[in-house]
Amino acid sequence: MDYDPIKKGKIDEMPVQPNLLDYERAKEEFRWEDVKKELDWFDGGKINIAYQVLDRHIKTPLRDKIALYWESKDGESEKYSFLDLSKLSNRFANALRKLGVRKGDRVFTYMDRTPEQYISLLGGLKVGGVIGPLFSAFGPDAVKDRLADCEARVLITTPKLVNAIHEVLEELPALDTIIIVNRSKTPYDLEDKKVSYEGLMDEASDEFDIEKTDKEDYAIIHYTSGTTGKPKGVIHAHEAIMGHYATARYVLDLHPEDIYWCTADPGWVTGTSYGIFGPWSNGISQVIYGGGFGAGAWYRVIAKYKVTVWYTAPTAIRMLMKAGDSVANNHDLTSLRYTCSVGEPLNPEAVLWGKDVIGLPFHDNWWQTETGCIQIANYPIQDIRPGSMGKPFMAVTAAILDDNCEKEVPPGQEGHLALKAGWPSMFRTYWNKKELYESRFKGEWYITGDRATMDEEGYFWFVGRADDVINTGGHLVGPFEVESALIEHPAVAEAGVIGIPDPLVMEVIKAFVSLKDGHEPSDELMRDIKRFARKKLLAAACPRQIEFVSGLPVTKSGKIMRRLLKARELGLPEGDTSTLEE
Ligand code: PRX
Repeated sequence: MDYDPIKKGKIDEMPVQPNLLDYERAKEEFRWEDVKKELDWFDGGKINIAYQVLDRHIKTPLRDKIALYWESKDGESEKYSFLDLSKLSNRFANALRKLGVRKGDRVFTYMDRTPEQYISLLGGLKVGGVIGPLFSAFGPDAVKDRLADCEARVLITTPKLVNAIHEVLEELPALDTIIIVNRSKTPYDLEDKKVSYEGLMDEASDEFDIEKTDKEDYAIIHYTSGTTGKPKGVIHAHEAIMGHYATARYVLDLHPEDIYWCTADPGWVTGTSYGIFGPWSNGISQVIYGGGFGAGAWYRVIAKYKVTVWYTAPTAIRMLMKAGDSVANNHDLTSLRYTCSVGEPLNPEAVLWGKDVIGLPFHDNWWQTETGCIQIANYPIQDIRPGSMGKPFMAVTAAILDDNCEKEVPPGQEGHLALKAGWPSMFRTYWNKKELYESRFKGEWYITGDRATMDEEGYFWFVGRADDVINTGGHLVGPFEVESALIEHPAVAEAGVIGIPDPLVMEVIKAFVSLKDGHEPSDELMRDIKRFARKKLLAAACPRQIEFVSGLPVTKSGKIMRRLLKARELGLPEGDTSTLEE
């Protein structure tokens, strides 16, 4: 069904003049060289993200501006100026340096969204470390896989979480320091590799000689899922800050007086690119809410802090819709002036619900962990076509390519979404997986793995993934990861995993499982398999449904035909089954 465009009024009648006034002209004139001039480089073309985000502001009137308004899930609140964060991250960087952390060492956080996480990540960057934030919801194996893959040296966590992963710590020989942040003052033993965050911070100076990293030095590692293998570490370099800075300015339209809230956790790239780097490199005050989703709680955050710009995700918007308009109507949301969404297809109904109930349509935008920053977006000055991801960012050339990823297809025709390679925040590699990295490029194109169309006016429309990767509530889940976890269960012989449509989180995970001899399907066994998976995977990646089957459709070369499982599940045509092993 077609929806009428949401028309934008005249620019000079808008209450706030957008940073981007003329898309077509900006597309012609945009140069990364100009963005470069707005940042503060060290001699010899060196740059450190943490310097752009904090330290450069303390030489300006921004020094005493509040950078972080923190609200915990229990209603505690704290605030930190740019100067506070600069000094605290200096302290932490001094502590890391004293512990022997050197440029290039991998420094991970595994904790809730408390101020210490942000201070640790920025301190990690200041010492030249490669920072890797992890979701606190990860189970022991998920943490182990990531730390082991890139041989992390330092983990910053809490007493509760370190206990939860105790069993895997011995399998991480490269991990030599575990820094314990203890807000709750929980008693714990300072044994083995553990040191106290509070103790380190007390002793450290708040002056620090920041590591003058090269623009190509690695800065961040985020793990993401693919069709095969375990999650892979996407690497971004310090130069990426140019992309975070420019897109936060022109897509999120951040202005000096804004109070901005990005709901994402730093475990997901949105929570670093736009929950740390984008807003703070622009000197913007932001709110960080430590709690999880709750319609009332979220609206209270907006009302309490008078949030003006809000960046969230489709599943959350659909959950707000489900909670009912009256919940929204009971809160004062009039401070909001601009709302954006990312991570999954944003259905037109959600765009329109925003307009009707919140008073503002959600502006969808598209990007990936690999791209590091927003690539396709709806802008404040352009009409919104509900359901469309919008148009390429000024510096980006996006196209729809044919099946061989060689030629562009005409408008309206579906194909592979590709981007012309080469922007500052583009990933530099997958950690230790150079071939896989190279396989993502064809000629001058980076192949995104998504399928899409482009209309006559240059708006892009998402169609689906080109591979078997499942998007559940914004989390990318590789079926192979889930299958690998399931077959470790003693009763499971084989597992095939697909995503099936869900109105709220887009897709939920369904597993088809065949059992080893001597095991019979039962509800108890199903529950046991689900519990087992929960220990190994993020909750969102655990199968919601398990169906016991006597065998799985596999190709003659032994690969599970997930496409066929899906077609059969959804009653769709089975397509070409010539490679099916009978
Ligand atoms: O499939 C696309 C979907 O999410 C993928 C990227 O996931 P991830 O690397 O976890 O995201 C990082 C930051 C967004 C894409 O390949 N995706 C992302 N945004 C959209 C989307 N699908 C449809 N519409 C979007 N706006």
